[in-house]
Amino acid sequence: MREAPVGKPIQETEAAELARQLFGIEAAARSLPGEYDDNFHLRCADGAEFVLKAMHPDRERGFVEMQCRVLQHLAKNASELPLPRVVPAKNGESFLEKRVPDGSLRLVWLLTFLQGKTLAEFQPHALELLEQLGSFLGKMSRALEGFEHPAAHRELKWDAARAGWIRDYLEHVSELPRRMLVQRFLGLFESEVVPQIPRLRKSVVYGDANDYNVLVGCEPGQAARLAGVIDFGDAHYGITVSELATAAAYAILGEKDVLAAAARVVAGYHKEFALQDEEIALLYPLMAMRLAVSVVNSAHRKALKPEDAYVTITEAPAWEALERLAKIFPRHATYAFRFACGLAPVEKAEAVKSFLKKTGPAAASILDCDLKKERSVVLDLSVGSALLGADPSAAETQNLSSVISAELERTDAHVAIGRYDEARLLYSAPQFGASKNPTDERRTIHLGIDLFAKPGTAVHAPLSGTVHLLANNALPLDYGPLVVLRHETDMGEEFFTLYGHLNTQTLARLKVGQEIARGEAFASVGETQENGGWAPHVHFQIILDLLDRGRDFPGVAKASERKLWKELSPDPNLILQIPENHFPRVPLSVPELIGARKRLLGWSLSVSYAKPLNLVRGWKQFLYDETGRAYLDVYNNVPLVGHSHHKVVKAAQRQLALLNTNTRYLHENVLQYAERLIELLPEPLKVCFFVNSGSEANELAVRMARAKTGSDDVIVLEHAYHGHTNTLIDLSPYKFNGPGGGGRKPWVHVAPIADDYRGLYRRGEDNLGTKYAAHVGELVDSLRKQGRRATYLAETLPSVAGQIVFPPNYLAEVYKFIRGAGGVCIADEVQVGFGRLGTHFWGFETQGVVPDIVVFGKPIGNTFPLAAVVTTPEIAAAFANGMEFFSTFGGNPVSCAVGLAVLDVVREEKLRENAKSVGEYWVAGLCELQKKHELLGDVRGSGLFLGLDLVANRDTRSPATAQASYVVNRLRERGILAGTDGPHHNVIKLRPPLIFKEENADLFNATLDAILAEDAAKA
Ligand SMILES: Cc1ncc(COP(=O)(O)O)c(C=O)c1O
Repeated sequence: MREAPVGKPIQETEAAELARQLFGIEAAARSLPGEYDDNFHLRCADGAEFVLKAMHPDRERGFVEMQCRVLQHLAKNASELPLPRVVPAKNGESFLEKRVPDGSLRLVWLLTFLQGKTLAEFQPHALELLEQLGSFLGKMSRALEGFEHPAAHRELKWDAARAGWIRDYLEHVSELPRRMLVQRFLGLFESEVVPQIPRLRKSVVYGDANDYNVLVGCEPGQAARLAGVIDFGDAHYGITVSELATAAAYAILGEKDVLAAAARVVAGYHKEFALQDEEIALLYPLMAMRLAVSVVNSAHRKALKPEDAYVTITEAPAWEALERLAKIFPRHATYAFRFACGLAPVEKAEAVKSFLKKTGPAAASILDCDLKKERSVVLDLSVGSALLGADPSAAETQNLSSVISAELERTDAHVAIGRYDEARLLYSAPQFGASKNPTDERRTIHLGIDLFAKPGTAVHAPLSGTVHLLANNALPLDYGPLVVLRHETDMGEEFFTLYGHLNTQTLARLKVGQEIARGEAFASVGETQENGGWAPHVHFQIILDLLDRGRDFPGVAKASERKLWKELSPDPNLILQIPENHFPRVPLSVPELIGARKRLLGWSLSVSYAKPLNLVRGWKQFLYDETGRAYLDVYNNVPLVGHSHHKVVKAAQRQLALLNTNTRYLHENVLQYAERLIELLPEPLKVCFFVNSGSEANELAVRMARAKTGSDDVIVLEHAYHGHTNTLIDLSPYKFNGPGGGGRKPWVHVAPIADDYRGLYRRGEDNLGTKYAAHVGELVDSLRKQGRRATYLAETLPSVAGQIVFPPNYLAEVYKFIRGAGGVCIADEVQVGFGRLGTHFWGFETQGVVPDIVVFGKPIGNTFPLAAVVTTPEIAAAFANGMEFFSTFGGNPVSCAVGLAVLDVVREEKLRENAKSVGEYWVAGLCELQKKHELLGDVRGSGLFLGLDLVANRDTRSPATAQASYVVNRLRERGILAGTDGPHHNVIKLRPPLIFKEENADLFNATLDAILAEDAAKA
């Protein structure tokens, strides 16, 4: 086929005329980019859209006819697949020959237009979307089985069977390392694929599922859906599995984890159209070869037409993907693909495992003692280990050694055992994937069993074998000196055992190839100085396939790849035979936890995120799930001074170990704490009451206020939430107006919330505070007329209502109205108190007022249940009407010890000051993002109490609720925990522990920036 386009391309007006004449369609035509043919997008007045194709004059009838037949066949046999449909001409034909104004004869045909964005332009390439792509193509392969057309038997450079043509064009790849990379994959193709071609399944394939032909659809805030594939110009009769390989090759472009991405395409395909073993085995070379053909083709065409950008459009990502693929051992890819298909990844695994089951009981003991009988203690070194606690310093060698010795002593055991398949946070070195971003997935899953023993302890070979590998991986936290022994089953299946953290003499003693007899003491346990810096132990692991990785075969895997690595490294206890009852119960998995929760807990208790989290450790501003994945905690305001702060923990532990009782006895803690709290408050707030939760505190505050006013009436703000008790539900419009709510009670009066972004009066207007306060004034007046007095209960910066900052002067004016009518002002400081706002310690201070009653909760005890009500002597006196106040747990010595420790830490670590400076820094970055992303309607708040108001339209401020939920769930996937709030659930609340750092704000902003660029996050 000639490559040059025709002399004069068809004009848009001429295309519209062709549509009218041949197809009876009145439409406006717009030219589409293309390599050879003249293609047009048609839009009719009724909104219908089509693609008109006027083929290059050199195109043969059979070529167009074949495409029409394929599409018609698919329309009939896979009608559920969104694909372009062939629109017949007025005379009923699928395509027509027509002479066009430049004099050439053109084959003209019409297709329906598919809506969607190309996969190349769509973000993100979620694994679920890639699975849909696979399943789409699987359905297509199934439908095309047995389809025939003579023109499909064609010579095509994209036919996988003919990919070897690139050998003659390699010289166009000018850079030597790249040429060698292509050569390597070409070699693999010739050795692995070519001999198999005659045996592989063949059929007509679409053959061009590249990322510019795959279309994706997406509604705001919703998961993406595959919207079809276009361009059947490369359809041909070829290797069936090449359909999948092509899609997988392009699906990995731009992906960091190419294997995970490809595996999901494979999984989707296999579910619809079962792959054969030999097809799966060739996927990796076929994928690589497709990319190799693409880059060589680009290089060649660049040489021919250096100015043509279209041709080289996917070149850079294809090179990058090839380089990533080159780092994967082919058999590893095959195992991953088999695993994705639900097949046994390592075919010999069952044979090796049953051999070990048979021979394991007779294997020699690795240590001098008999592990089957020896008193041993299985250590909990998991992420959620109470033995280690949250402080990562517990994992430092010296500390870990002391913990292990203490455990041995406590249990009177002789051997300490570290578990297989245990997620651990012990691997902090860069080779485990630790990076600058603490929320990136690291390797955490232990693939061996550790046997802790004194340095110099002899290590025996459990089975006979030969020395396969000797190495010293001397990097900190690596294997240190290691030996790999090679073994065979009775059927000749090869497998290996690995021994890490040995001493250097071991390496000097042994030679590769040396035979080792069963039971032979061939190695010794190393000292900390030589063993990678660990507490002395031997790491013992079984390996079925070394994957050409030699000394770098991992002893620890990523949790996301856990199951596959466990297939490659089965449980070493097959050989060690430590009695199962020595091991503790396996904790519940996430699905089991969800099931048990549904069974055991009230159903009205919700759970955060579409993919719920199982958190097992908290440290500073990070939370960790059971796999060791770290999450930056950006919205839990309760751990004010950071998760598991050592001072707070110590204070609780010490007091709990000494005395905990109730406030009917004298105790200094409660008095010390009351004194400290009062010191932080202005006059006349001098009298304290202690309870256990914000709800209890608000409940008590309302009782006190009523004792003073003699009226039940309470004024609250729209969307407010104050707690879960009966009275507080009645006082929380967020609840009584929400799902399941019973509506407003007559004694409850709701004032408009002073929200200057979305409320009645908005930023830019004068006297906002006065205007909003006037509404409270009206309510007070109307109550006064009925002889009633009002209590005013409000948060000082409403949180649940959407992280609202009152306009200046608002509370001052409100308090004047309330007090002027003999009412009482309660400030709910449950969310914002204790320095979070940066500029002030308490929220009411930002408004220049002093409430009559202040309510404290949540952060007051840094997650320990403690809450307080502080009021004036006058109100306290009115409340002391004879009825006793008593809360069993309120103000107990432990909670007050905790409260004191929290106040100490806030002062010592200057956390209010930190909240101010980091908050300002954070907001500056967020305001930059606001310039870029329309969705970010408003950035507001103070210190580390911030809200991001997401809007679908900045003029109307219509809330972008679905997008907010999408963003929060995507942040969670990227390792950042945030939540939504506000009546429309469109405000992202940011309220991290006050130890939050600028670098944490940077990570949040960069991640948010990337997520807001994703299609589902668009307005
Ligand atoms: C403003 C406000 N007040 C009171 C409460 C109730 O506190 P608790 O859940 O400790 O009972 C909450 C809880 O979210 C709150 O946000």
